[in-house]
Amino acid sequence: MEKREGFSSKFGILAAAVGSAIGLGNIWRFPYVVGKYGGGAFLIVYLGIVAAIGLPLMLSEFVIGREGKQDAIGSFKKLDSKRPFFVSGVLGVLAAFFILSFYGVVAGWTLEYVFASITNKFAGQSSEQIGNMFGSFIADPYRPIMWQIVFMGITGLIVSTGVQKGIEKVAKIMVPLLLVLIIILDIKALSLPNSMEGLKFLFQPDFSVIDGRVVLGALGHAFFSLSLGMGIMITYGSYISDKENLGSTALQISLADTFIALLAGIAIFPAVFAYGVDPSDGAGLVFITLPNVFNQMPGGYIFSIMFFALLALAALTSTISLLEVVVAYLVDSLKMARKRASILAFTGITLVGFFASLSNGPLAHLDFFGNNFFDFLDETTANYFLTTAALISVIFVGWFMDKGRIKGQLSNEGKFSIGYESIYFAIIKYVAPIGIVLVFLYQLGVFGFME
Ligand code: PHE
Repeated sequence: MEKREGFSSKFGILAAAVGSAIGLGNIWRFPYVVGKYGGGAFLIVYLGIVAAIGLPLMLSEFVIGREGKQDAIGSFKKLDSKRPFFVSGVLGVLAAFFILSFYGVVAGWTLEYVFASITNKFAGQSSEQIGNMFGSFIADPYRPIMWQIVFMGITGLIVSTGVQKGIEKVAKIMVPLLLVLIIILDIKALSLPNSMEGLKFLFQPDFSVIDGRVVLGALGHAFFSLSLGMGIMITYGSYISDKENLGSTALQISLADTFIALLAGIAIFPAVFAYGVDPSDGAGLVFITLPNVFNQMPGGYIFSIMFFALLALAALTSTISLLEVVVAYLVDSLKMARKRASILAFTGITLVGFFASLSNGPLAHLDFFGNNFFDFLDETTANYFLTTAALISVIFVGWFMDKGRIKGQLSNEGKFSIGYESIYFAIIKYVAPIGIVLVFLYQLGVFGFME
């Protein structure tokens, strides 16, 4: 049997896992869900969930992966061959498949925006015209699909060459550069007229808007943004060497991911208010507000190209990780050759993505529970697939996995002591599973009588 590849360095793992976590979720999806769910109150719920459930769950996924040394489904089967916990892995692989189908479409949009920036299409356009450009672009039957194919093709090529060569190299350069650029954007955004309005929207909580839907949205987005509940961190955990400290790795990734999302929010909301965009405008928010900022910045032409190129790269390290989940399953559990598995996964995912893209235009009339197909995939995968897979994982680690093995993984077989042990087990056994179930029940209206 082929030897499993591993990451070559501490920085390699961190870079690849951070690369997976940081992506369109931070810069495209975070601002738009903050807007959709009403601003500051959502942010507070979100931050609480990241700390209390997201971080311990990431750690648990690392534990499962490094102990099982397999893809998401294989690791569960290896650690518990009697009970059907591997369905969490199955849900995860399915979630990765469906998330990538619409994520690849948005990733394609970033390429269109690199192209539009290079050809200076936004220059001299009013805020309204920039909004219209976005609307007619995503409704076009061909262009978004063309970019989606380009983007998914690049992802497929990288994944088919294997773990180390592909993923590490790309991830190492991208994150630091992106960070610098967003900070420059923040400074510019804060100097815009009305910027205080934007900050207030983001940071001043109005708790009256919180209901089950908002909390479920925060839970779903936390998992989405940290790449949890779909076996990604299980798969990467299986590549982490036995010398690394899983706890500090998970903490660093969660902090970095949250920090970038906040910085993105600080860049976007002041601009939303400065240019009279509606914060609940949805999936177009970043694409509609930022070109206005670039238009008014000295050197905006170059910044715009750099920003969308880096956004594309950030998306790429995430699409690589999503495709890797599906491919690792085909390779490890179904014994398929990596190239073949990559081609098969690419084809299936991209085809479903066509329908997601077309549902913003020619197929907009098809109704999926009150949404078009694109929004339906986006909302359902994050809010239901990820949360359910996560629930199964925490129940497994909290109640069924051998406690000695968990502690062995957390302490590298007793090489150091685990200061957070009791709080970790309390969260994994009680707080996280009960919390997730309560959110589901609340969302279903079970507690409606209390309002
Ligand atoms: N976490 C990534 C982001 O925030 C996207 C992603 C989602 C990656 C789900 C893997 C799985 O953009």
